Amino acid sequence: MTWNSGYVTDVVYTTGYYEEQSPSRIALSCLLGNVAPGFGRRSDRLTYLEMGCGRGRGALCLAASNPDWRVIAIDFMPAHIAEARELAEEAGIDNIEFLEADLATLDPNTLPEVDVASAHGVWSWVSDEVRAGIVRILASRLRPGGALHLSYNSLPSWQGALGLQRLIHTAGRRIGGRSDRQAEGALKLVESLGAAGAYHLDQADLVRTLKKNLPNMPPEYVAHEYMNDDWRPCFHADVAAALADAKLDYVASGEILENFPELMLSEEQRAVWKGIEDPGLRELAKDFCLARGLRHDVYVRGPRRISSGARNAALNDLHLMLARRPEDFVYKVDFPAGHAALERSFYEPVVEALGQGPRRVGDLLSLPGLAGKRENPAELVGMLVGTGQAAIMTRPEAGSGEAAGRLNDRIATRVLQGDSPHGSLASLRLGSGMRCSGDHYVTASLIRRLGVDSPIEQWPAAIGMPADSPAYDQFLKAAEATRHSQTPVWTQAGII
Ligand SMILES: C[S@@+](CC[C@H](N)C(=O)[O-])C[C@H]1O[C@@H](n2cnc3c(N)ncnc32)[C@H](O)[C@@H]1O
Repeated sequence: MTWNSGYVTDVVYTTGYYEEQSPSRIALSCLLGNVAPGFGRRSDRLTYLEMGCGRGRGALCLAASNPDWRVIAIDFMPAHIAEARELAEEAGIDNIEFLEADLATLDPNTLPEVDVASAHGVWSWVSDEVRAGIVRILASRLRPGGALHLSYNSLPSWQGALGLQRLIHTAGRRIGGRSDRQAEGALKLVESLGAAGAYHLDQADLVRTLKKNLPNMPPEYVAHEYMNDDWRPCFHADVAAALADAKLDYVASGEILENFPELMLSEEQRAVWKGIEDPGLRELAKDFCLARGLRHDVYVRGPRRISSGARNAALNDLHLMLARRPEDFVYKVDFPAGHAALERSFYEPVVEALGQGPRRVGDLLSLPGLAGKRENPAELVGMLVGTGQAAIMTRPEAGSGEAAGRLNDRIATRVLQGDSPHGSLASLRLGSGMRCSGDHYVTASLIRRLGVDSPIEQWPAAIGMPADSPAYDQFLKAAEATRHSQTPVWTQAGII
């Protein structure tokens, strides 16, 4: 067996940002699960650990957005760690350490005690030995009261697609060569079998969706998702049982909206679900009802139940900002349980107030006309943050954040050189990132350099794009549209 123990290591993974990994979101999940976020009071001096950090963009964004934190990010692929360290150095982010280490064998004593840990897209893609290593690290280094975010491919959603993964993995291995080429070749076989009416490629929703979407995904993504020897989707109860060895208890979903059964389950499903006492069985029943294939779980080492008064006080104390322009706010939203309309008489004044600047949740709930109407901060925060239309601000009064600006600019330069465009803009005020695409990095960086009102015609030259470039007109159009829609949001977040 080589050092990679059957994990794909001959191509680097894609970049991405997942807000579920951010401590402020993890703390919100804890509150929604009626548990005190044990790390809340020290939010300015957290030690954060990411296990299986890939190319490190998420960890870097958190480090740049929280200069007083200590961030440690581990991955066993030297190419990932080398790239992440290079970017940290270029951007002058010095509160992060990237460790090249195998989670299966890493001595936990080499790590400090951590307040919050996260492993996104790792647990169901690695071997039993690596999972055991993750539990060992958590058992030894996650402090009492500390929290874990863990995502994994879940069962039963994936049961219909187990065969699809085996087909891609086996066909790819027979083809040989680099893993992304293997994945591309295997997808051609999937396509041919699908076109020929193969029964099991048409039986499950997830298989049908994957069959349609996978050919449009970056091959390196497909390789890391499907070409690992030990990939195995998991039942929640089995994950929870493994983590119990680290004295961790499941407290809530990291997907904010999943903590609201009335949005996720139909009335009939809720009636059955409510009758179930056992928490593990409850989650299994929920997993039988929901079509999603990836679970985001939040666990706490020694959860302490919180009274509803203390919970509401903590929620009321959160600051929110709108993550889009007020005119782009969406009042009709699709949830698994059906469509829901965000009641205009309640949400319109909230959106209007947030359009003027960040607000404390408690202040929003006391806006004229709303006081006494809704005393449930959980619903307000859950709907706004869960639908991605508002973001939690951990430092609403802070300046723009030099480290965050440097990181955003460095990534913009890389995007212009053709680097993977997916990620997030770091923000000191948010204390986390704002998910974005490549052109957002570039536009934000140009606004920072040239000013928000600078003539757009100056922008192409500033990025070295000649006027006769075939991309010129398209660039101007896209940049203007992004400037128009994002300026109010980025200004509030201190990104520009
Ligand atoms: C699917 S990727 C997810 C990466 C990142 N969390 C993200 O979501 O972008 C899984 C990551 O786990 C890393 N990994 C796999 N096995 C590992 C091990 N034994 N020790 C450390 N890292 C490992 C891989 O190198 C890869 O970067």
